[in-house]
Amino acid sequence: MKRISLTQYLVEEQRLHNTIPAELRLLIEVVARSCKTISHSVGKGALGDVLGALETENVQGEVQKKLDVISNEILLEANEWGGHLAAMASEEMETIHPIPNRYPMGEYLLVFDPLDGSSNIDVNVSIGTIFSVLKAPEGMVTPSEQDFLQPGAQQVAAGYAVYGPQTQLVLTTGHGVNCFTLDREMGSWVLTQRGMQIPPTTKEFAINMSNSRHWHAPVQRYVNELLAGDTGPRAKNFNMRWIASMVADVHRILNRGGIFMYPADMRDTSMPGKLRLMYEANPMAFIVEQAGGAATDGKQRIMDIQPHKLHQRVPVFLGSRDEVAVVTGYHAE
Ligand code: AHG
Ligand code: MN
Ligand code: MN
Repeated sequence: MKRISLTQYLVEEQRLHNTIPAELRLLIEVVARSCKTISHSVGKGALGDVLGALETENVQGEVQKKLDVISNEILLEANEWGGHLAAMASEEMETIHPIPNRYPMGEYLLVFDPLDGSSNIDVNVSIGTIFSVLKAPEGMVTPSEQDFLQPGAQQVAAGYAVYGPQTQLVLTTGHGVNCFTLDREMGSWVLTQRGMQIPPTTKEFAINMSNSRHWHAPVQRYVNELLAGDTGPRAKNFNMRWIASMVADVHRILNRGGIFMYPADMRDTSMPGKLRLMYEANPMAFIVEQAGGAATDGKQRIMDIQPHKLHQRVPVFLGSRDEVAVVTGYHAE
């Protein structure tokens, strides 16, 4: 098999579609290198003293795990000096991180969830890193949070790394979705899946069922119909898979279809869902749409939402497009 490295892929993409100028290529390669470093730490586990929690909380009021902070540091340090970015933002930082004055300033903005699936870190279950790349607005002099608040449709690239039995990087720059597997011996990313496609229909769903009593009526109805199986209104049996790492659940869906849901519920109206728009929902929506799937908040396309703050939360329904259409339709009724 002829091996195509991430670098070769990016160079050839640029020749083909003119969508990956050198600065963006550098950005993607630096993010990919950071994910390699994070993967290395994740893989050491107790031997690297990286498991467990810290005493700090992030801006979302969640207790930070050691690996949340380590991964955030790795991404910040790797991406500061290359001259490709104007600023970064992260789940683990309340405010944006402008590139320090001592480095040249680039034209891109990088947003990330450094470690997704934190509750799975200590139990050796797949976790990941999610990232989204935006262009800094024309004429921007000093980056501010406002500059990040662009709808997901304006992303120029998005991707995630999944740290599972294999470490893989899934990437889109707007011309389909490709998957690279980390060759641990060589330390290189090798293209292993081209043009990933999510089947439009599925018999598999993913949702945290323990929240069911809090769901709104359309979600109750939809999931009840799935559970009713072949004698119910959907006339087929559905299976459930829930990993509680969005990266791992989305990765399964990209490979064999399915619908992933994290709805808003009736507990706290100031908290519309759990997942964050800028660094979880938008990048995943971009990837899923590029693979022929769909992603909505129950009412509209996620990538059309105009963000109003960096850490804004959003309900998420994504995956196989026929199922996303059904549950989105129930919200409209
Ligand atoms: P994070 O670890 O970045 O805070 O995100 C975890 C998210 C997501 O990965 C997952 O789908 C969801 O939280 C699971 O949450 P619950 O177990 O609370 O339902
Ligand atoms: Mn997350
Ligand atoms: Mn996280």
